[in-house]
Amino acid sequence: MKKTVRDIDVKGRRCLVRCDFNVPQKDGNITDDKRIVSALPTIDYLREHGAKIILMSHLGRPKGEPKMEYTLKPVADRLSELLGTEVKFQSCPTVVCDTIRAMADSLQDGEIMLLENVRFRKEETENGAEFAKELASLGDIFVQEAFGTAHRAHASTAGVADYLPAVSGFLIEKEVKFLGSAVEDPQRPFIAIMGGAKVGDKIPVIENLLQKVDTLIIGGGMAYTFFKAMGLEIGTSILDEENIGLAGELLAKAEKAGVKMLLPVDVVCAERFENDAPSKVVSRENIPADMMGLDIGPATVELYREALQEAKTVVWNGPMGVFEMPSFEKGTKAVAEILAGSDAVTVIGGGDSAAATEQFGLADKMTHISTGGGASLEFLEGKVLPGIAVIEDK
Ligand code: 3PG
Repeated sequence: MKKTVRDIDVKGRRCLVRCDFNVPQKDGNITDDKRIVSALPTIDYLREHGAKIILMSHLGRPKGEPKMEYTLKPVADRLSELLGTEVKFQSCPTVVCDTIRAMADSLQDGEIMLLENVRFRKEETENGAEFAKELASLGDIFVQEAFGTAHRAHASTAGVADYLPAVSGFLIEKEVKFLGSAVEDPQRPFIAIMGGAKVGDKIPVIENLLQKVDTLIIGGGMAYTFFKAMGLEIGTSILDEENIGLAGELLAKAEKAGVKMLLPVDVVCAERFENDAPSKVVSRENIPADMMGLDIGPATVELYREALQEAKTVVWNGPMGVFEMPSFEKGTKAVAEILAGSDAVTVIGGGDSAAATEQFGLADKMTHISTGGGASLEFLEGKVLPGIAVIEDK
């Protein structure tokens, strides 16, 4: 068990809190503030307990330069609105400077400030010790709350813990609880649903989950690489050519492990990768040479529904089709609806499946939706995330 902010006295102490405020923006406006909202319980707790709160985060990939299109100013404004109190912010190209030190020193108990984008410094992603020390000099305690970035060993996510006592916030606690118990101690039957375009990206996750699940459901673009490994023709569907052999090995491993592996039995295929391209449903054995599969078909939805009805725990990572196009969203929507109506513990990996669940208005029907895309995948791979490893044990 990792220490959390509950395990220490924060009154009057400067808490340096690493959040993941890497939120999408359009024309300078935040289009989805979920990651900001998810940090509020920890910030509120620290305020109520009289901590001096210094928040830090990255935004995008400015590659070590102070590029103002990546400033965290819009995040400071949104946070101030959400908290109903000022979040002090001063853009500083070096992130830490005399002005920022003075701001941090003058914080009163319960007051909050946000540092500029830590990736304005190239030492951030290099996990440079000097930058980690500079950051650490602003605080007395390091609070890890950035689950979405916990798979990165950067100065603000890992290095800083060399110089300060490190505890977790409530978001990390929640993510570890749901993702961890789903994978390590699931109620059975335990079913994982894997989708997305490329098998290559998900091989380590599938390998790890094959040792734990009762059933593995495959959908999305990666299914066509499995079809190819089974000797089927896939027309112009997406193919992860270099991983055909590995897909075949995964099928064999599943059989050996006694894991039921369900692949689509029919697909919606289209002439082009366009929403209004002519399309039809065909069995997986009959994909025309000049068409590409863009969604799972209705018989597959029924097959998956039947399996999922029995499940007590479900982990879902990756869409079943091109859900961004209305003509090819049905399979992903059906899976989201099945999970929303299920009594099982339903854990949704971040990224595309989280976005799909949102798009269909079903997010509040799931047990847990991870705020981490890459981080939740690495967690499901069974890796130790560096940003979590640095948190002290109880
Ligand atoms: C994410 O959005 O997955 C995290 O914020 C990490 O961002 P990164 O992939 O740029 O490190």
